[in-house]
Amino acid sequence: MKKITTALLLVMMCLLQLNAAENKVIRIATDQTDLVFKVGDNGRLYQSYLGKVLKSEADLKFLPLGTEAYLTHGMEDYFEPAVRVLHNDGNPSLLLKYVSHSTSNPQPGITETAIVLKDEVYPVQVTLYYTAFAKENIIKERSEIKHNEKKPITLYQYASSLIHLSADKYFMTEFSGEWAHEVNMTEQQLSFGKKMVDTKLGSRAGMICSSFFLLSLDQKAQENTGDVLFGTIAWTGNFRFTFEVDNMNKLRILSGINPYASEYTLKPGEVFSTPEFIFTYSSEGKGKASRDFHDWARKYQLKNGEGSRMSLLNNWEATYFGFDEAKLKELFGEAAHLGVDMFLLDDGWFGTKYPRNDDSQGLGDWTEIKEKLPNGIGHLVKEANAQGVKFGLWIEPEMVNPKSELFEKHPDWAIHLPNRETYYFRNQLVLDLSNPAVQDYVFGIVDNLMTKYPGIAYFKWDCNSPITNIYSAYLKDKQSHIYIEHVRGLYNVLKRVKAKYPELPMMLCSGGGARCDYEALKYFTEFWASDNTDGVERIYIQWGFSHLFPAKSIAAHVTSWGKQPLKFRLDVAMMCKLGFDIQLKEMSENEQKLCQDVVKNFKRLQPVILDGDMYRLVSPYDTDHAAVIYNSKDKNKAILFAYDIHPRFAEQLQPVRLNGLDPDKRYKVEEINVIKEDRQGRRPMPSVNGQIYSGDYLMKVGLPILTSAHTSSHVLELTAQ
Ligand code: DGJ
Repeated sequence: MKKITTALLLVMMCLLQLNAAENKVIRIATDQTDLVFKVGDNGRLYQSYLGKVLKSEADLKFLPLGTEAYLTHGMEDYFEPAVRVLHNDGNPSLLLKYVSHSTSNPQPGITETAIVLKDEVYPVQVTLYYTAFAKENIIKERSEIKHNEKKPITLYQYASSLIHLSADKYFMTEFSGEWAHEVNMTEQQLSFGKKMVDTKLGSRAGMICSSFFLLSLDQKAQENTGDVLFGTIAWTGNFRFTFEVDNMNKLRILSGINPYASEYTLKPGEVFSTPEFIFTYSSEGKGKASRDFHDWARKYQLKNGEGSRMSLLNNWEATYFGFDEAKLKELFGEAAHLGVDMFLLDDGWFGTKYPRNDDSQGLGDWTEIKEKLPNGIGHLVKEANAQGVKFGLWIEPEMVNPKSELFEKHPDWAIHLPNRETYYFRNQLVLDLSNPAVQDYVFGIVDNLMTKYPGIAYFKWDCNSPITNIYSAYLKDKQSHIYIEHVRGLYNVLKRVKAKYPELPMMLCSGGGARCDYEALKYFTEFWASDNTDGVERIYIQWGFSHLFPAKSIAAHVTSWGKQPLKFRLDVAMMCKLGFDIQLKEMSENEQKLCQDVVKNFKRLQPVILDGDMYRLVSPYDTDHAAVIYNSKDKNKAILFAYDIHPRFAEQLQPVRLNGLDPDKRYKVEEINVIKEDRQGRRPMPSVNGQIYSGDYLMKVGLPILTSAHTSSHVLELTAQ
């Protein structure tokens, strides 16, 4: 019997080798990028190439074998592995060999490839999945791990992606910060050793660092030249990027769930599926990489990515918790006066036993505060509609205040340690979404509100706390699964919401901009980039997010936070999805008129700003100014936003060279968002107004639009003649 089994095994191994030899080269390609794998004579899978697309298939055989594609722990590699497992017998090693691969085209322009790898000694299988979007030049990667050992195995590391690069120099840009100070861009050269960018926050996972990066080869990242890779992990929880330069100056980038405190016990037959790592490789600098990400996100990832967006008036910064029905009705009128599409009621409308009049209580109890809103939400919806605006509502469904009826009834639904004093972040706890009963409850919050008040046109879904006191009563002896199961539970809820309310627009918010990963954005039409709405600060924040996210996905509101002229704040907010968080009484008549003009312009130009091609022209990181242009896809219309932040005295001002226009077309330049006279008595009106230039001139010579006035701005509309 034993002999037969051994013979069978040998035959199978030969077949495997044969299969490997037949399928020597696996090519994952977009129109501009090639990712090439080869199977070595030893049957293992290697990444042979990642870079600009190779024209001739015949050349692929010349590519060197490269480095093992999905490195394992325990063999002959001495750097960070993609996967590390512990088998039933205590053996900690894994050696993966190529078994087969397959490709399919689920839609025109999309190719999916699956590569199956197996250990020949232990029944562990890893499948690597690649989805290539040809035109948008985006590749998504993920892996699946499963096994047939007798008992569960333990996973210690489980990367979604391992990418190998080889260059003389590597420059990595991270996007880190904190509340009201999101996505500060810091570029650093990588040298021997490891740099990790990760978070361990659990729920408000991007609070101190966002889940995306830029990697530039040989030189610092440039807008229009050079090879860069933008990568992001589609995971709404702890993530980790590891950049490791080895002794041969080769770089490996590992991306995935942060395995910190998250050993995963995988049962036989169970599939461990990692989140998607999404990247683009550009040989024309970071501008092209951004535009590719924007096109892809609008077409394939963002909820209703190709639809239009509503402008709105939100009451948060205008009233905080201090509102009642009369005040809200007044604000509906202000929304109508501004001309926006919707009014959004923020935090502070719920809680019966524990009314939510500040952030210390009430979270979890989603019934109206009778004293504030005696006639309930239904009445508000009607009133808003009667005044000509839609009605949206704020919720924070994943959280609970210990001072709430929900917590009194279900203390075990909140993540907290049973035997220690509890630590609260913003007086609240995170609900345990690994528990299906909690998932039902959270889904029920949206579902009940929509059933009771079908006129609700929008939700702002907030998430203000990271996970503290990590312990799940539901997971019992599987505590190391909590970070992962919590996020999977969140997706179960969001999937149900989207399935039942596919057209419902929702804003993803997390105490500002701590959540904007592309998995969550499947379920949201936009995200809140920051609670910091100071016009100058917002230029930097929106600049940072613009690297991976289209303007359409970024909510930007005009508030009274910044001390800049209102026009400046309006212009900044109009670069993304425009909204207001301000009361009319803070504005002069002239200013109110300007707001109305800006809303009209935004509605008219939405297809250019939100769906066009964005070119970053002047960086606020390098100068005391900033400029960005949005071009319609047909190149007939463009909107230029130019800002003078804090220019130095006697600074030599350069014309702003535009980009992305048709050199052969002639464009009429007209200034829009013009205030007759601002509070400082300034009358902005550049000399270029009304002139007609060729696209060629505008791109080679540019427009003298920057000035030495502090916090001034211009918005120019360019129309092909
Ligand atoms: C944090 C958000 O970022 C704010 O916009 C606001 O909704 C508050 N939460 C409400 O508590």
